[in-house]
Amino acid sequence: LTLNISTTATHPIPSTLFGYMWEVKTIPPQLRSILQGDNTAAMEVFMVLLSLRDAELLQNRAFQAVIPGTQNALTAWQPFNGARLSVTSKTAGVSSSLPNSLEVQIPKVVSGPIGFENTGYWGIKVQSGWTYQGSFYAKSTTFTGSVTISLKSSSGTVFATKAVTGVTKSWKKFTFEFQPSVSADNDDNVFNVVVDGKSAAGQTIFFGMFSLFPPTFRGRENGMRIDLAEALAATQPSVWRFPGGNNLEGGSFDTRWKWNATIGPLEDRPGRVADWGYPNTDGLGLLEYLNWVEDLGAEPILGVWDGISIANYSDLGTWPVVPEADLQPYIDDVLNELEFIVGDAKTTEGGKLRASLGRTEPYSLKFIEIGNEDQFQPDSYAAYRWNAFVSAISAKYPDFEFLATTLPTTALTPAYQRIDFHMYNSPSWFTTNSFMFDDYPRNGTKWFVGEYAVTSTNDTNALGDIPSGRLPYPTLQGAAAEAAFMTGMERNSDVVFASAYAPRNYQWTPDIITYDASRMVKSTSYYVQQMFSVNRGTHVLSTTPAPSNDTTPLFWVASYNNETDVVFLKVSNTGTQDLVANIFLGFSATEFGSAVSLSSPALSPISGLFNVSNTLEEPEQIIPVSSSFALPFSDRFNYTFPATSITVISLQTK
Ligand code: AHR
Repeated sequence: LTLNISTTATHPIPSTLFGYMWEVKTIPPQLRSILQGDNTAAMEVFMVLLSLRDAELLQNRAFQAVIPGTQNALTAWQPFNGARLSVTSKTAGVSSSLPNSLEVQIPKVVSGPIGFENTGYWGIKVQSGWTYQGSFYAKSTTFTGSVTISLKSSSGTVFATKAVTGVTKSWKKFTFEFQPSVSADNDDNVFNVVVDGKSAAGQTIFFGMFSLFPPTFRGRENGMRIDLAEALAATQPSVWRFPGGNNLEGGSFDTRWKWNATIGPLEDRPGRVADWGYPNTDGLGLLEYLNWVEDLGAEPILGVWDGISIANYSDLGTWPVVPEADLQPYIDDVLNELEFIVGDAKTTEGGKLRASLGRTEPYSLKFIEIGNEDQFQPDSYAAYRWNAFVSAISAKYPDFEFLATTLPTTALTPAYQRIDFHMYNSPSWFTTNSFMFDDYPRNGTKWFVGEYAVTSTNDTNALGDIPSGRLPYPTLQGAAAEAAFMTGMERNSDVVFASAYAPRNYQWTPDIITYDASRMVKSTSYYVQQMFSVNRGTHVLSTTPAPSNDTTPLFWVASYNNETDVVFLKVSNTGTQDLVANIFLGFSATEFGSAVSLSSPALSPISGLFNVSNTLEEPEQIIPVSSSFALPFSDRFNYTFPATSITVISLQTK
């Protein structure tokens, strides 16, 4: 195989090319086990991206969006030493947004400490050297004794403990810090809350709005778990699409993602039953999203609600939309949201509100996506929804650029300039379609691949269950297919202006990073995102096109960085054989090239190990390996691309 890299730059590469789509999802364990069937490995974990959340350690911390009196309302809470627990709304909650509280009845006959525990999100990581910031509310008409809070192992080892006094008949907020002096051996730890049984016997105490945070990424309030945030930041994403996805749309108009229900003190955030039927805390709200995107140095792509919800598609055969005559309040709501994000802090109501929450400077925002996947309701989108939102927003903000979300073939007024369309499929689909953008019309419109991922090996049902091919974790084979597709996006980045990797979340597999309370694993797909994103050129270089009848499973793109004078060659070998390429350069390179490669040392076409994944148990089966190699001549070399591998070669030009 011969591969020529010329010095002809075909076009500049947009700085927005690689990034992520993000929507918050939290999965109660009982739901996870139902969704994930028998896959015990996957059942043990909580997965990230789309499903990243804040670093909060206490699950169901404020009893948001649950039905009082039910067992589900007590998710993650358990009695300690015989207390009777229930979630109630019969007494006023800590705020009008949080009407539910935990009613704790102490039996008349009891001895020793008694109370309740939170089991965290699949346990709690206890780390010496960390300071944990905690708080809770309590009230009682009779109890006035002290409340002891602790971080303990399930078997009773106490890692940190504090006591507070001053419970009165009105809600009072108690704050505390934990500084454990030893780390726990494992995550089987709980947050324990007790009172003295003797002094509390026969009494009732109400608790509400708990919180326990470890240190967060960059010390942000309500911030991200450090290891996960650092891992994502290390891939240097340059776009971040949020807050959905279906998460934006809601299961009904009223349960859509409401920007102004996600800002301000946690006490003012009601949370919501999200589209997948379980509560969202909204602890990661609009400001937290914007701060996170800013911390990453990424460009936000903000999805705004455009009058569609995703309720009962199977019953209705369509998705409900707001009639044109009723749309104005929702348009106003979006205008208010945008003013909150970019409005002047002195002269606009939205800007003043933002400043009152600690952020004076407007956020940088350029891309507004009107809805999500409106191909499911293209008629109303084309008839009035797209036009109504774009017209109203651009009248006030003429510099914003809009992304449409319906089928590329749908005619819109005004005509769309950018369109977002999503791809979840099998490895063979992604490799076959890696040339799809070669034919995209060069008519001024640009494509945003706003969600994409290999989800399954099943070519006819890529969103089915694990027994029918759905991937519990990304595989090397899938990552190579994604990389092949990404070479096509980069080669055609004159029309593909951005992309957002988004492993499909419906059954919470696969995912880019899988984690439990203390561990995480970077998937093969994670490393592909990182390799493509970190090694960015400023211009695409023209390379030998593969002959149209060629079936060699090698996919490539070359680029040049005009700040560093480095040429990058990104190659995916999606086949099961090593492939040698004779690479000819239209320029002179220095004596040594470097390469970073992702492949499986144990790969064998016979045992099919290209399906290998990094897992929580074996997190480093497939990791990028860096090497350097000598160029015998300054303008050519041979390179062996291992079976099922992704390689980025860097050549310093002379
Ligand atoms: O599972 C992720 C969902 O898939 C996204 O929310 C939606 O946009 C897509 O259909």
